[in-house]
Amino acid sequence: MELLDGKKVSNDIKDEIAMAVSDMKARGEKAPHLAAVIVGNDGASLTYVGSKVRSCERVGFESTLLRLPATTSEVELLKEIKKLNENPEIDGFIVQLPLPKQIDTQSVLMAIDPDKDVDGFHPMNFGKMALDMSTFIPATPFGILELLERYKVDTKGKHTVVIGRSHIVGRPMSILMGRKGWPGNSTVTLTHSHTKNITQIISQADIVISALGVPNFLKAEMVKEGAVVIDVGITRVADDSLEKGYYITGDVDFENVSKKASHITPVPGGVGPMTIAMLLKNTLLARERHRAKN
Ligand code: GUN
Repeated sequence: MELLDGKKVSNDIKDEIAMAVSDMKARGEKAPHLAAVIVGNDGASLTYVGSKVRSCERVGFESTLLRLPATTSEVELLKEIKKLNENPEIDGFIVQLPLPKQIDTQSVLMAIDPDKDVDGFHPMNFGKMALDMSTFIPATPFGILELLERYKVDTKGKHTVVIGRSHIVGRPMSILMGRKGWPGNSTVTLTHSHTKNITQIISQADIVISALGVPNFLKAEMVKEGAVVIDVGITRVADDSLEKGYYITGDVDFENVSKKASHITPVPGGVGPMTIAMLLKNTLLARERHRAKN
């Protein structure tokens, strides 16, 4: 079994980005600037956004964190997005999801300038991705592709089963694994809550990508010997014996599935850190595109 070490690979990518940034600065150019907007006080979201901002410092990016109260209206948030769209200092920005109930997520995502949409969630960018055009690929799927590539995992003609059809992970992942090229050229099955015989489908998979958010969902008896297993689940499980009061777990019963898998991602230290590295990569790309335009 080979561990797909997202922590190590994400550090390699951050080193590569840091080098590109120091070259930019040496040429007298401005460093990329990423902004993140967070609405409300959700603990997990605050942790993720905090890591994104800290990673900016590590690679030499400028960063701005905009924290808005949980009671923010959709109109107020749209005003902030307009300001970020119009601010020439900002190369790219993200609005952390999920948003509070009073705000319509699609309206917000559609208000982001596609050229600054480093999450790749705007319909224009999502459409370009589906049409194999150059664009911002959503960071989590992009990170999974990068892991498959760096570990030279063969995907051509393989049966990839994606579990979960979220707009952030499952849906884009299913499109990307079926695209021409590598990683891609897979035969993809996208499974969800209405899928019949899901256990049987998973047992036929050469590559399983689980993005469900249900701890211990994927058990050893469900996967084929030699399967590639990608765990996208990040669930906080309450545990009073720990200082933090919780621990993080994925969708996969790692201890037992790892005995059957050819390759597997751990949680933590697998897909999670890759998401942040690829967001930085998209921001670097946004900076290069802005420079080319202005
Ligand atoms: N919430 C969970 N994952 C993500 C992500 O990749 N981007 C944003 N904006 N919100 C998220």
